[in-house]
Amino acid sequence: MPAVNVKPGIYWIGVNDRTTDLFEGLWPITSEGVSYNAYVIDGERKVLVDAAKDIKGDALLDQIAEVFDPALLDYIVINHMEPDHTGVLRTLRRIAPNVTFLCTSRAVKMLENYYQVTDNVHAVEDGEVLDLGPHQLQFHSAPMVHWPETMLTYETTQKVLFSCDAFGGYGALQGAIFDDQCTAPEFYEREALRYYANIVALFPKPVLKAIDKLAGIPVDVVAPSHGLLWRKHPERIIELYQKWANYAIEGPELGVTLLYGTMYGNTEKMVEAVAAGVARAGMPVDIFDVRHIHASYILSSVYTCSGVLIGAPTYEGELFPPMAHVLDMLNRKRIQNRKLAYFGSFGWSGGARREIAQWAEKLKWELVESWEFPGGPTSQDLLKAEELGYTFAQSLR
Ligand code: FEO
Repeated sequence: MPAVNVKPGIYWIGVNDRTTDLFEGLWPITSEGVSYNAYVIDGERKVLVDAAKDIKGDALLDQIAEVFDPALLDYIVINHMEPDHTGVLRTLRRIAPNVTFLCTSRAVKMLENYYQVTDNVHAVEDGEVLDLGPHQLQFHSAPMVHWPETMLTYETTQKVLFSCDAFGGYGALQGAIFDDQCTAPEFYEREALRYYANIVALFPKPVLKAIDKLAGIPVDVVAPSHGLLWRKHPERIIELYQKWANYAIEGPELGVTLLYGTMYGNTEKMVEAVAAGVARAGMPVDIFDVRHIHASYILSSVYTCSGVLIGAPTYEGELFPPMAHVLDMLNRKRIQNRKLAYFGSFGWSGGARREIAQWAEKLKWELVESWEFPGGPTSQDLLKAEELGYTFAQSLR
């Protein structure tokens, strides 16, 4: 994509990544893609704000060259050290050997560890201002949004906030880079939520602290390093992040995530009956087969819903392993304080129910119902399952 003028002297020069299957080696983006948004400021001093993953080095250099010769770079602002934003730093330094890196003090050692860069590094103070004539940058440390060294950079004359991971999302850019040009904002909002739940959810308080810190700062454009740039409604993505971070503090929305796994379809028969009960209660429900759906997508739902229904059989005396994996991911992201009900089939002895109780304790979830049944469900069991779904949904109100 060509460089895009964001504000006078400020250009988006990002690149799309449609070839990586797993973001961070973990989260699927095969069909969604991701963008590594980077920016240049073309004034008396030439600045690059954030960069890209190493596999996109040539594309990023071509993008910079659309605005100025990359060899002319005076500064590279490193808001965040994760290699999706820094993978090309050594290449950039070979091209612009006198460039100065601007980062937080926490990033200095990381620069050495990742890229053996130890000279021409300036650690900025929180709130420090750098005059670039005619532009001016102000640096705001934002630890744990997403790593401890993270900062946000604010261009004061044009009111552009370069927020890096904060306010970002999965989803390659589809021609349009701004919210007001985008015909599918729901895609980017959904992918921003998935990104939040996968990448940032562990750090709700730092997110809220960073948002508080920005409260008095007028922002015309939120320019994150992944996903859409927000210039028509810059407040929209900030409010969404604030809402999502608050789920971890004040609790999520009313709703049910129904997770199931099944070996021969017996637990699955119960799923349909339980879901019918939830629907009868008028409660929204997302249903995921954990054998096929990656935890990345499940995290988004559980993150936003107050209730979790789990249907999974016993497997060799323990919980069906794909379900245990999902619960482990939820535990790693500390998605706590949900209501839980469990049902599942067993062959010769139970065991899943015991493990579910252990997971509930670990996750600080309230286990309100736990039901193991032998073999396949009877018609009486299916009636009971429908009632279980209804009662559980009602209990969330
Ligand atoms: Fe986009 Fe934490 O890296």
